[in-house]
Amino acid sequence: MKLGLFMPTMNNGWVFSTNSPQFIPDWFLMEQTALKAEHYGFDFLLAPVKLRGFDGPTEPWNHTLDSFAVMAGLAVRTTRLKLYASVATLTTPPPLCAKQAATIQDMAGGRFGLNIVTGWEKPEYTQMGIWPGDEHFSNRYDHATEYVKIMKELWETGRSNFKGQFFQMDDCMLGPKPKHPIELVCAGGSDRGIEFCAELGDYQFLIGKPEVADLTAQSGRLQKATAASGRRVGAYPLYTIVLRDSVAEAEEAVESWRQNQDFEAVANMMGMASTDTSTDEASTKHIMLGSDGFMFTIGRIVGDAKTVADRLRELSAVHGVSGMMLTFQDYLTDIDRFGKEVIPLLK
Ligand SMILES: Cc1cc2nc3c(=O)[nH]c(=O)nc-3n(C[C@H](O)[C@H](O)[C@H](O)COP(=O)(O)O)c2cc1C
Repeated sequence: MKLGLFMPTMNNGWVFSTNSPQFIPDWFLMEQTALKAEHYGFDFLLAPVKLRGFDGPTEPWNHTLDSFAVMAGLAVRTTRLKLYASVATLTTPPPLCAKQAATIQDMAGGRFGLNIVTGWEKPEYTQMGIWPGDEHFSNRYDHATEYVKIMKELWETGRSNFKGQFFQMDDCMLGPKPKHPIELVCAGGSDRGIEFCAELGDYQFLIGKPEVADLTAQSGRLQKATAASGRRVGAYPLYTIVLRDSVAEAEEAVESWRQNQDFEAVANMMGMASTDTSTDEASTKHIMLGSDGFMFTIGRIVGDAKTVADRLRELSAVHGVSGMMLTFQDYLTDIDRFGKEVIPLLK
């Protein structure tokens, strides 16, 4: 089972609560997280791209590091881990992204790859005047397809004359060409997003489902798409790990984050601030309390080390799953504990 780690490049990570671990990302945290991940035997790291946060008292994701810069640093600081940086396709012209990726690939000795992000949060892009219009919601994977085709042409041949609906290249040059292929991953959850990855990606991130039957169905969607595209694409479902001495203690921790969730930030994230005209805060709270929005609706694996290891083994055995992609809350402490208590049980 391959193990991946979602890097904590965004403040407070994936729990929007006033009593969950609070942190502002910096290089020290990136470096130590990566070194611990490498030490304990993780296989890859993913650094997300996020350009706007959600305000509220805890300001989740108002403070983020640049995905490419972090991975360039880690390329020279680590020796074994695969490193995936994320590109928001609306922000960077494809030849420039291709060159950044080729440069970091050289620094990493072939361990670098790209997560293609088409963008689901419009204000990230309207804030800087680069939102192409709401048609992007329906054609973003057509846009991304052209984007990737141009990068692949440049990496493989050093030139592109691609002419498409969104991009036109005119004898565009890239040199030196990367010495190692650059893997592509994607995390689209829609049918079109999955189809895009089945056609052009190497791995697909999925929102992990806690039940085997649900994850099997989720992985089956990717299998169906790869059968149509005739390619092999592994699935990496995403889970958040809450590791404590017992299941009850882990559930207690989650419940306390839920009770103290940052309602304002969660509401902003869910887009409710703009769409919900109700001024009744209690009704918003009611909806939020019943949802997992405060933990980003990521599938959870909670409990003591044995329970967590058993669940990871069970879920990773699902057909089509190549490995597990994990998030934690208090990264440095949690990775140590996971590395010492759970990883030995997975071997
Ligand atoms: C593991 C994982 C990583 C993701 N990374 C990012 C990211 O870095 N930036 C971002 O804006 N969205 C990110 N997303 C969101 C996806 O790119 C995608 O927009 C979302 O899953 C919705 O799928 P769709 O585009 O097919 O509707 C990520 C999702 C997952 C599951």
